[in-house]
Parts: sequence; C-alpha cells; structure tokens
Amino acid sequence: MRLVLLGPPGAGKGTLANLLKERLNVAHISTGDILRQEMKDGSSLGQEAKSFIERGDLVPDELVTRLIESVLKNNANTDKGYMLDGFPRTKQQAEDLSRILKEINQPIEYAIYLDSTLPVVLKRLTGRRVCRNCGALYHMENKPSKVNGICDECEGPLYQRPDDNETTIKTRMEVYVDNTQPIVTYYDNEGLLQRVDADKDASEVESILMKIFDENSAKN
Ligand code: AP5
Repeated sequence: MRLVLLGPPGAGKGTLANLLKERLNVAHISTGDILRQEMKDGSSLGQEAKSFIERGDLVPDELVTRLIESVLKNNANTDKGYMLDGFPRTKQQAEDLSRILKEINQPIEYAIYLDSTLPVVLKRLTGRRVCRNCGALYHMENKPSKVNGICDECEGPLYQRPDDNETTIKTRMEVYVDNTQPIVTYYDNEGLLQRVDADKDASEVESILMKIFDENSAKN
C-alpha cells in the first residue's frame, strides 16, 4: 500500500504512521525526520535546511524533492509500500511526486487528510517530547513516559523540538494554510482523498483508517 499523510503540524501524522506501519507492513518516510537527521549529522543538506526549519518555514522544494526522489528510487525497503509523512507540502512537490511515481510505476492509493483544529494542535505540539535516541513520540499529558524525561523504549533522553515553541508553531501553521492546505484539493480532484477527524484520540483515528482500508480492499 502507498499513501500520503496530509494535515497541519501536530495533526498526528508521525503518531499514526508509527501505529500503522507494522499493521500495514509498509515503510514510514518522514521528510521532517530525514531533515532533522541530516542536521544532527552536520551534512551540507542539513546545514542548508537548518535555518528554514528553525524559523518554521519550508525548506526549498528542489532540495526536499531531490531527497525524496533518491529515497523512493534507491531504497529497497519501499518495495512493499510506504507512507509519506510531511511530503508533499506544496503544489510543486505534489506535481513532482506524481512525476516520480509515474517513472517508477508506483501510484499513490490514498491521500489521508488528518483534519485537526488549532487549539488541539497547539496543545499537542507544546506538550510533545521526542526521544533523542530512537525518535519515539510522547506527550506530557496524553502520552507521558513512565519515567519523566526518559524513553520507555530505549531509555534515551527526551527533548522538546526547538520548533515546538509558540512563535515557530504559529509560523508553521501559517505556512501550512498558505502552501499545504491547497494540495488537499489537489488530491481530492485526483479522487484519492480520505478525510478523517484527527482531533479524536490516536487509537480511534487508527481504527477509522483501518476500517477505510479494509472496506476498500474488500471492494477490489
Ligand atoms: P515535520 O517534522 O514534518 O513537522 P510538521 O509537519 O510540523 O508535523 P509534526 O511532526 O510537528 O506533527 P505530526 O502531525 O507528525 O504530529 P505528531 O504525530 O508528532 O517538519 C518539520 C519542518 O521540516 C517543517 O517545518 C519544514 O521546515 C521542514 N520540512 C519537512 N518536510 C518538508 C517538505 N516536504 N517541504 C519543505 N520543508 C519540509 O504528534 C504531535 C504530538 O501530539 C505528540 O506528542 C503526540 O503524542 C500527540 N498526538 C498526536 N496525535 C494524537 C491524537 N490523535 N490524540 C492525542 N495525542 C496525539
């Protein structure tokens, strides 16, 4: 199965991808995670992306598309399918993705729009904590770790993403409305869009999505 996960910052794209990737047996490809890893490694790409990410702006299309094209064309673990999380984010990226997927004959089957409201995403983002070691996601209220500041999975230290402060979150939301929201219509026009109320609890959203996938596979 191949799908794209759309939705505002904090809608739960990473959370849902983590819940679904084993059930669906597909790879989780997050441009945000890849870019943060490049920054951590100090690569030239990471250095180029850093100032954009810290401000809450989009990294230039050309750079991110090159990155995704390389992952999709050269990565063996995409054979069984994948979830794209955080890509595409602009109309240009959506068009580039269509071109790349045409070249490798891997059409997208679903565009999942995780529809979440501003008060909910603000609360989620300001309370989010991430494991510095394995990337596991936590929330101070919704999903606290058993020991404060320590990852349940690998005992790594938890940190708050530098772009999860109120000023940068505001910029990310504005950037989302201007650039990413329009591609929801793009996928709707392609007949691929599935809209889900993502203000609901993560396990509820997961069940709704599994029901959509099951119903569609029963039809085909
Ligand atoms: P990226 O890392 O993709 O950030 P984002 O889109 O802002 O999304 P988030 O990761 O913040 O949110 P999410 O929806 O994954 O929520 P999560 O599951 O973690 O991108 C970062 C930056 O990289 C961008 O600003 C940009 O600069 C750059 N970039 C990346 N891709 C790019 C591209 N294609 N083009 C250009 N630039 C790009 O959940 C958040 C919290 O809420 C967690 O604590 C979680 O536990 C909790 N939570 C989630 N869902 C639920 C739920 N249903 N119920 C209760 N709690 C929940």
